[in-house]
Amino acid sequence: MASHLLTNIGELLTNDPTLGDESLVGRLTDAALVIEDGLVVWVGAAVRAPACDSVEDVEGRAVLPGFVDSHTHLVFAGDRSDEFEARMAGHRYDGGGIRRTVAATNAASRIELEAATNARLAALRRGGVTTVEMKSGYSLTVDGEARLVSIARSLTDEVTFLGAHTLPDEFAGDRDGYVALVAGAMLEACDEARWVDVFCDRGAFSVDEARHVLEAGRAAEKQLRLHGNQLGESGGVGLAVEMDCASVDHCTHVSDDELVLLASSSTVATLLPSAEFSTKSPYPDARRFLDAGVTVALATDCNPGTSYVTSMSFVIALAVREMRMTVDEAVWSATRGGAAALRRSDVGYLGVGARADLVVLDAPRAAHVAYRPGSDLVARVYRAGDEMTPRYPLQ
Ligand code: NIG
Ligand code: FE
Repeated sequence: MASHLLTNIGELLTNDPTLGDESLVGRLTDAALVIEDGLVVWVGAAVRAPACDSVEDVEGRAVLPGFVDSHTHLVFAGDRSDEFEARMAGHRYDGGGIRRTVAATNAASRIELEAATNARLAALRRGGVTTVEMKSGYSLTVDGEARLVSIARSLTDEVTFLGAHTLPDEFAGDRDGYVALVAGAMLEACDEARWVDVFCDRGAFSVDEARHVLEAGRAAEKQLRLHGNQLGESGGVGLAVEMDCASVDHCTHVSDDELVLLASSSTVATLLPSAEFSTKSPYPDARRFLDAGVTVALATDCNPGTSYVTSMSFVIALAVREMRMTVDEAVWSATRGGAAALRRSDVGYLGVGARADLVVLDAPRAAHVAYRPGSDLVARVYRAGDEMTPRYPLQ
C-alpha cells in the first residue's frame, strides 16, 4: 500500500520516550512521520525522511496523537440544561437527574438516538478525538440497554454496559431485584459490550452491589471499569483495584491510602474535570495522583447531566489551570493515559507500529491546546481506517 509522508512538522509529540527529547511526550522538532497501511512506519528528523508515494508539508504545524476519550455517555436523548442552571445558582448534584434522561431516551426512536449520538461523535472528532468509549446506562431495561449498546457498537469498539447507573423507579424498594437483573438477563442482552461499569457512589450503588455486577461481568468475559469516588469516598477505588478494573473514573474524593493502593495496581485513575466544572464541585488535585505514582487519564465524561462537553482541549485546559498538571502531563493523559484506561497498546502514541491516529494543529506547538481554550485549533484529523482522508483541509 502507498506510503504517505507528513513533513515539516514544527513539533511532534510521539508519547514515545525513546524518541525525541526524552520528555514524557517524546517531543521532536522539525520532524516527519510516515504512514503506511494505517500504521506509523517511520518517525524522525524531517531532513532524514525517506522517499514516499505522497508528501504533505504541514508548514511548521504541531502534530500529536489523536485524543483517546475513554469515558463518555454519548447515547442519550433529552435536555437537562435547567439542572446546569440550577447548579450554577447553588444547587448540588446528587445523580437524581439520571432518571429524566432515562425517560427521554426510552421515549426516543432508534433513528433519533443514532442521529443525536452521531452529532456528538462528530463534535468529538472535530476536536481531535480518534478513539472513543461509549456507555449505555440511560434505559435501565433489558431491551432498552441492549438498544443503547447496539447503537454505541455501530460507532465504536469500546462499548460499556452501565445498566447499574441508577435504580429505576420500577425497582424502588427492590434494590436486590434490580442488581440481579443487571447481573443476569440485562448483561446477557448486552453481550456486544466489551466493558462492564457500575456507578458506585453515594445515592447510586454500594460496593457490595457493584462487586456483584462486576463479578458477573468478569464471568461473562467482559473487561471491567468503575465510576467511583465522585460524590464521596465511596470505596470505589478499593473495589476497582480489588477487581483489577482497567480504570476507576471521577476520583474526585480520594484518600492518600487509596492513592497508594492505586499506584501499586494496574488500574488507571481517570479524572473528568469538565464534570467538576459543570457541577461546580472542587477539582481533584491531579498532582497528588501523579506524585503518588498513579497513572492518570483525562476524558470528557460527555453526558447530559454532569458534563455536556465534547472538547478534549477544554478538559486539558481545566487540568492544567485547575489541577496542577503540566501541559505535557495533561496531553499525555488525554492520549496515552486514555489508551491505558482502555488497555489499548495500539493508540495514544506515534511510535513505529502505532495506529496512525493523529491530529495536525493549526498552531506551532501542542501547548496551544491548553493555551488557547475554546479555539478551533484542529486543522486535520487522521484516523487509520478512514483511508487517511484528511477531514479538514488546511486553511
Ligand atoms: O459520569 N456519575 C454517573 N454518571 C454520569 C452522570 C449521569 C447523569 O447525571 O446523567 C457521570 O457523571
Ligand atoms: Fe460518567
